[in-house]
Amino acid sequence: MCGIVGYIGNGEASQIIINSLKKLEYRGYDSAGIALIDDNGNTALYKEEGEISNLELILPAITSHIGIGHTRWATHGKPITKNAHPHSSGNISLVHNGIIENYMELKEELVLEGYEFSSDTDTEVLAHLVKKYYTGDLHTALRTALGYVHGSYALAVLSKDHPDELIAARKDSPLIIGMGDHENFIASDIPAVLEYTKRVIYIDNFELVSVKQDSIQVFDLEGNHKKKEEHIIEWDPEAAEKAGYSHFMLKEIHEQTNSIHETMLGRLHELEGDVIFDELGLSRAQISQIQRIEIIACGTSYNAGLLGKYLFEKLAGIHTDVDSASEFRYSSPVITPGTLVMAITQSGETADTLAAVHEATYYECKTLAITNVVGSTISRDASSTIYTRAGPEIGVAASKSFTSQVVVLYLLAILFARVRYTMDADKAQQLQSELRKIPGHVRQILENERSIQKCALKFAKTNDYFFIGRNINYPIALEGALKLKEISYIHAEGYAAGELKHGPLALITKDVPVVAIAPQGHTYDKILSNIKEVKARDASVIAIADMDDTEIKKYVDAVLPIPKTDEILSPILSSVVVQLLAYYTALELNCSIDKPRNLAKSVTVE
Ligand code: F6R
Repeated sequence: MCGIVGYIGNGEASQIIINSLKKLEYRGYDSAGIALIDDNGNTALYKEEGEISNLELILPAITSHIGIGHTRWATHGKPITKNAHPHSSGNISLVHNGIIENYMELKEELVLEGYEFSSDTDTEVLAHLVKKYYTGDLHTALRTALGYVHGSYALAVLSKDHPDELIAARKDSPLIIGMGDHENFIASDIPAVLEYTKRVIYIDNFELVSVKQDSIQVFDLEGNHKKKEEHIIEWDPEAAEKAGYSHFMLKEIHEQTNSIHETMLGRLHELEGDVIFDELGLSRAQISQIQRIEIIACGTSYNAGLLGKYLFEKLAGIHTDVDSASEFRYSSPVITPGTLVMAITQSGETADTLAAVHEATYYECKTLAITNVVGSTISRDASSTIYTRAGPEIGVAASKSFTSQVVVLYLLAILFARVRYTMDADKAQQLQSELRKIPGHVRQILENERSIQKCALKFAKTNDYFFIGRNINYPIALEGALKLKEISYIHAEGYAAGELKHGPLALITKDVPVVAIAPQGHTYDKILSNIKEVKARDASVIAIADMDDTEIKKYVDAVLPIPKTDEILSPILSSVVVQLLAYYTALELNCSIDKPRNLAKSVTVE
């Protein structure tokens, strides 16, 4: 997730902006840049790949009191210097956090009109659009440009024609204004300004802000003034990086209301029931000819892959296998040119998954990577790459990166099903409209967080846990167990519920809580039987069930409700519940949640 900063005041702009950008490093980034207006009225622009310290190395001493800065987390275009922000057109420079969905069509029009592009980013389109509509009034130009844009943005704009003002705007990406003494700040997040001021204003969607040395004015997109409340921030700098959450993992669980939306942005076309993946690298004919899908991944990404198997087989009728990358690389896989090999990895750097992709490449089949990190090794090694756009994840335990992987798999399954005529437009439209409701459903689950915490506390002192599910809920049982064991160190097993009687039932006693993933659907009666089976062994049962399910309450000790959605989409909601259950159990046991023992975020060794 990019970080943006703007400064105007008596201070030395370059130092303050660099310092503020460093406070946003926790958001993750791959390049950084800065634009300043020096005291002679000239614009100075510097950008560099990699760390902010690389940018500092090339930044000369410039006396300036106004500027904008950016740390980029790539979404469109590789993480290289030319794609770093700020982007400029004429005298206008801007920094952007978000995604311009319709940038391709806007770019085509601008190219026809003679605008030259020097990057592969969606953001550069915005710079040219503002320039195009500029006739002396920067506010009007920005407002007009934003009227043509679909997507999300937090922006800071600088023009040497207006050396006493910065303009900021927001839609669906975070933006705050820091209010100082004869100085003011624009930032993506509070840590950036906390060293200088505790007074902030939160900017809302469709607001445009004029930031001068001694004034802040907020307008709506029609240019009408808006009154805003000032807030005093009492967080210490460390708490501020976590936006007040006690751990990055909890913050990232909460971010899923937005990350799931970002994953879908610009990819759903409900009217036609189609899904668009510009980056897929497969023609409709190639999709029609897929004979088998082979998914390779590790850990949580493997669990996402298992869910993918159910989706590709159920929706698109394509036989799908899922293998642990560490096993696949030493097996004798039967891969033909008709096999599509899909590698799922949030980091894009997992050694086993990379080796498995190399192995697959040997068979001359198509390899498709699904990853969260633009420019990661897998994106260079696979034939094509889809980015999950979850934003950087700091907690070692995957949470938002998992739900975004899963959402990409839903979209791919719908796309393949439409191309292969196994799903009609009505069904695709209905699924897409339910998908669009998922961020709202996640919000509802988060509002019920306290009851999940209460349940976690009740069972936190146990030595063993079981998670059971059937069919499409089975991968969530595996994921629930994995999440719990890695951050709370409680032994946990994920099982296909029908398998219990083939061995593990011997372990079920009154001391073993069992989490049953049991939303209504075609295996509901079966999981109810499994619940009765473990209740008969005196186990305590926690059911993850539909909100309106009154029946299940009769058989279990606790219900963790999820909002009603299409049966096939419910695993996304159940996964948020198991994440919170694991989190609050680990919190109660005082574990090192963001950095569990022996584990790393990026497993780059075999
Ligand atoms: C668990 C977790 C790990 C990773 C695994 C693969 O919460 O994060 O199990 O899923 O190490 O990592 P990636 O997805 O980066 O290949």
